[in-house]
Amino acid sequence: MKKLIILLTAIILVSAIATVVIAVTTGPDEIKYTPKMGTVTFNHLAHQGLTDCSTCHHTGDYTQCKSCHGVDQNAPKSKDAYHKQCKNCHKEMEQGPTKCKGCHIR
Ligand code: HEC
Ligand code: HEC
Ligand code: HEC
Ligand code: HEC
Repeated sequence: MKKLIILLTAIILVSAIATVVIAVTTGPDEIKYTPKMGTVTFNHLAHQGLTDCSTCHHTGDYTQCKSCHGVDQNAPKSKDAYHKQCKNCHKEMEQGPTKCKGCHIR
């Protein structure tokens, strides 16, 4: 009986940890940017179903784009990095906003 309880506790603990890890690695469902130009609401979850993670997280690091863009001299400025990645794909797929006011809502 004691062994069974220990085993069950172990299973519960492992699955709880796994859930936390999954929640962390897929990131937030929605990300809101609030530049002066107007708020951009990015549905991260919906976009995850459109392409591979590495299309956007192109270095394989799941960190903020601004941890490199605007910091690393070799990386384009963050505004250009977002605009290029977001708008180019919308143009290519002929879906998703490409006009300023399609993304920036005041
Ligand atoms: C269409 C582009 C796109 C796709 C596809 C995508 N992401 Fe993201 N992800 C982003 C953007 C943009 C952010 C916000 C980061 C920022 O603005 O600095 C983000 C944020 C994250 C974060 C939080 C990073 C942090 O430190 O705040 C994690 C974790 C993450 N993504 C994981 C994933 C995983 C795992 C996948 C694949 C299942 C994925 N993403 C697919 C664009 C994307
Ligand atoms: C670990 C650092 C790092 C992170 C994190 C990172 N980038 Fe980059 N990015 C770079 C560097 C360095 C370059 C320039 C060299 C290259 O093209 O690989 C670059 C280039 C780019 C380019 C230009 C590609 C081209 O073909 O001209 C875009 C667009 C871009 N990044 C968007 C993003 C977006 C959006 C995010 C966040 C989802 C992001 N990057 C996260 C380092 C990073
Ligand atoms: C891999 C291609 C791809 C990339 C990269 C991408 N998008 Fe999209 N996006 C799409 C497609 C396809 C749609 C239309 C399908 C849909 O609505 O789910 C869309 C729709 C949208 C919409 C309107 C629908 C909604 O979710 O409200 C917004 C806003 C948007 N994208 C913002 C962004 C932003 C901001 C970025 C950059 C951080 C980005 N997208 C990067 C492909 C992409
Ligand atoms: C596909 C969505 C999308 C479109 C279309 C778009 N933007 Fe953006 N824009 C963004 C995202 C995402 C950011 C990053 C916001 C942040 O870093 O807080 C941004 C940032 C900016 C910034 C920088 C704000 C700051 O404080 O750094 C300016 C200015 C801007 N956009 C102007 C424009 C103009 C002008 C247009 C039309 C020519 C446009 N944007 C079209 C998504 C878009």
